[in-house]
Amino acid sequence: MPFALGQLTLNSNLFLSPLAGYTNLPFRLIIREIGGVGLCTTDLVNARSLLEKNRKALQLIASRPQDRPLSVQLYGSVPEELRDAAALLESLGVSSVDINMGCPVRKICRNGSGSKLMGDYEKAARFVSLMVGAVKIPVTCKMRLGWDDENLTAPGLARALEDVGVAAIAVHGRTREQGFGGSVNLAGIRAVVEAVSRVPVIGNGDITTPQTAKRMFEETGCAAISIGRGAFYNPWIFRHTAHYLATGELPPEQGFEGRVNVMNRHLDLMVEIFGEKMGCLMFRKVALQYSRTFGPTKEFHKLVVHLTTRADFDEILDAYREWRTQFLDAAGDLLPHYEPHPLGLAAAPPLAVKVPAGPNELW
Ligand SMILES: Cc1cc2nc3c(=O)[nH]c(=O)nc-3n(C[C@H](O)[C@H](O)[C@H](O)COP(=O)(O)O)c2cc1C
Repeated sequence: MPFALGQLTLNSNLFLSPLAGYTNLPFRLIIREIGGVGLCTTDLVNARSLLEKNRKALQLIASRPQDRPLSVQLYGSVPEELRDAAALLESLGVSSVDINMGCPVRKICRNGSGSKLMGDYEKAARFVSLMVGAVKIPVTCKMRLGWDDENLTAPGLARALEDVGVAAIAVHGRTREQGFGGSVNLAGIRAVVEAVSRVPVIGNGDITTPQTAKRMFEETGCAAISIGRGAFYNPWIFRHTAHYLATGELPPEQGFEGRVNVMNRHLDLMVEIFGEKMGCLMFRKVALQYSRTFGPTKEFHKLVVHLTTRADFDEILDAYREWRTQFLDAAGDLLPHYEPHPLGLAAAPPLAVKVPAGPNELW
């Protein structure tokens, strides 16, 4: 369904969440080529590093005309730096800027002072208002529900941000204390939707299938959703979700050869953009995610962790195809006993996307 992000009209209200270490240019291009996604966001980028033209920061915002509409996620603690970084991004043709609010009430939550909490909302709102005033592109914010279950601050913060003109608010339905454990609190997201009057809320957390996407919309009343890990497990999720929401029909899962084609394309882009050595190294963990639906993968995993050149990958696939035949019937389908678990965050835990070291108290 189309979605108005400030002045920008997006073709779909299904978005790609920022995943540091994963949502790089090759992955975004793959997601866009498959289709169904309305907006992709980069990994989070430090505002100061960007202003200093730090090489890594510039690599994080590397893009192409096909990589639109694109949102860049910024974080930082100096309001002027965030403002200037937003203006720089606007001048570079980025479609919108997202601010990672993390859990700005951390200290306040610890000593539990209600009035200070309001003060902190105001501080956050001043930060954002400075950015909104400096650029024409939409400014969005991403937050968690709050510090812990006793401090669900997202509704109050969302209201304060609405007043200073944010274009949308994305809410990961977990508290800071929860980390990535437990399940997502849909009622918590609903409370944010109910707290604001105009600004659209983007529901986020644990969406891994078209059905869980539908549930997020229905139970929270959110205007858009954003998918992180689910897109890594299944890059077809946006397209399939759009189809399911429009028709009620679930498209069939992508088969082995279809996945292999997209994997090859993904690796080609990694090599083209990051160089053969780095691209192959980075692709190792990506290949593990694609392989979740292959059935038995011991041989594939054994080989792919040594991937070093583009040509290696063709050999790995040949060897794996041959090894895999023992699990196939005469028609080339997996024997029922070897069929993979349904895709989902609970499936195949050893392959769960790891949360890397870094400023992840922000997510
Ligand atoms: C590996 C990893 C990296 C992440 N990086 C970011 C990030 O850079 N910025 C951010 O706001 N959230 C980040 N997140 C949080 C996700 O955007 C998302 O809010 C969270 O994973 C819940 O959504 P999901 O269940 O669809 O993955 C990250 C999560 C993971 C697992």
